Amino acid sequence: MKIVTLDEFIIRRQNDFEYATGELTALLRDIGVAAKIVNREVNKAGLVNILGMDGSQNASGDTVQKLDIYANEKLIECLSNSGECAAIASEELDKYVEVPRVEGKSPKYIVVFDPLDGSSNIDVNVSVGTIFGILRRKTDPSVPVSMDDFLQSGAEMVAAGYVLYGTSTILVYTTGNGVNGFTLDPSIGEFCLSHRDIKMPTSGQFYSVNQGYYLKFDVEMRRYIDHCSDMNYGLRYIGSMVSDIHRILFQGGIFLYPNTRKYPKGKLRLLYECAPLSFVVEQAGGRAITLGRNRIMDLKPKSLHQNVTIAIGSPDTVTEMEEFLEKYAVKLI
Ligand code: AHG
Repeated sequence: MKIVTLDEFIIRRQNDFEYATGELTALLRDIGVAAKIVNREVNKAGLVNILGMDGSQNASGDTVQKLDIYANEKLIECLSNSGECAAIASEELDKYVEVPRVEGKSPKYIVVFDPLDGSSNIDVNVSVGTIFGILRRKTDPSVPVSMDDFLQSGAEMVAAGYVLYGTSTILVYTTGNGVNGFTLDPSIGEFCLSHRDIKMPTSGQFYSVNQGYYLKFDVEMRRYIDHCSDMNYGLRYIGSMVSDIHRILFQGGIFLYPNTRKYPKGKLRLLYECAPLSFVVEQAGGRAITLGRNRIMDLKPKSLHQNVTIAIGSPDTVTEMEEFLEKYAVKLI
């Protein structure tokens, strides 16, 4: 069978867009390059004792960085390559940053990302991921980027995806025409098309939630979790949203991060995590809502780092959970 590389696929798909000029294509390729560089470092993470701990100096005299900071820097560097990215906002940074202009370019796009989601898993050799979303800027390319360019809903994203650094490394993305996955072949250093037009099961027998917080959840969420247990649904929770959602994409089920007493508005970020992953999941036939029962993709962020509650996964499973919210939520008189 003929191997289709990520670059080849992206270029072929450029024709899906009317008036496409290759700018989005170039951006996706920049992200693919960053993913390969981050992958290389993630794979070396177990060698910190040999190569040097975070903050220390390695054998070459370079200071060893925390991997999430490293991933952040590499993404910014790679997104500066094509000159098609005007600015970025990252979970690792307080404010958005403008990307240095490449001569002759007037970039129309901005990129939001979580460079290394679930990074606390690195020390114990468990999967982590990168999540990204691409937005068309609202302001004219001739003026500086503004906050309004970033505060757009998931429905306005033109592309989104993730990279999972797992037993193998896979890049999954959508431009609104289905979802495709590319596995990194380390022998040739290329992402190769491995999962074409991914469609998730309409329901599933897995639920993914930090059940340690059970007593901190609202009553309707506790009733739903009881139901999952009654139905013998399997509980799977890695503590890395990308990994948990990746499994659900293929095996079906639901991922939940509800409000707790510690995080009354949820812990996960709308712009960097929930909106891009909702775009992917919806394109694969799934659903993503808040526990206030609003579609995640419709939410316009009020700030860059806004948190949101989330229930995401197979459409019938999310709808089943929604019925519990409806039935058991405390109704204030
Ligand atoms: P971080 O990047 O700070 O490690 O956070 C990971 C996120 C998400 O990926 C995961 O699902 C969730 O936080 C885990 O949070 P809890 O430990 O509270 O369950």
